[in-house]
Amino acid sequence: MNKPADMASFWLYPAPLEERERGVSEAERLLKAFAAHEDEEKAFLKDYRAILEHCKHPMAAYLLNLIIEDEERHQTVVHSMAATLRGAINWTHPADAIEGSTTLTQEQARELHRLTRKYIDEEKEGIKKYKKLIKSCSGYYRGLFGLLLKVMIHDSEKHVMILEFLRDELADA
Ligand SMILES: [Fe+2]
Ligand SMILES: [Fe+2]
Repeated sequence: MNKPADMASFWLYPAPLEERERGVSEAERLLKAFAAHEDEEKAFLKDYRAILEHCKHPMAAYLLNLIIEDEERHQTVVHSMAATLRGAINWTHPADAIEGSTTLTQEQARELHRLTRKYIDEEKEGIKKYKKLIKSCSGYYRGLFGLLLKVMIHDSEKHVMILEFLRDELADA
């Protein structure tokens, strides 16, 4: 476990100077791309909020709000990636960086690994249940309930993806 990300491993393990310099400039380019993306996400969010402010349509307002919640999360995710990379480039460890050494005991790591497997199964069960519900909801509110269930299936698939990554990360604990 505790596999370092590519860029982090670059600084953790000695490499020839030339290789190290190439790594830094690549990371700096990536950081610039993240920073630009962070600005785009901010602009997106501002636009959505402006639309929502004048929206007198409850269904539209509700749905736009779902998007805004996602956009807020996108912003924090991009911010965390940028902070992590910036920390690696500057040899610092910002509080909002994602990478760091673990203080989990082997037993705690095993327990977390067990929980990830349990929740993967539960998320998959949840997806099956939502899919069944879609059939009985298809006619409600011109398909609104069907849409919301599909959105939740999408979220659950995302949760499975995240948990599977974590499970593999913790596998050799
Ligand atoms: Fe986004
Ligand atoms: Fe979930």
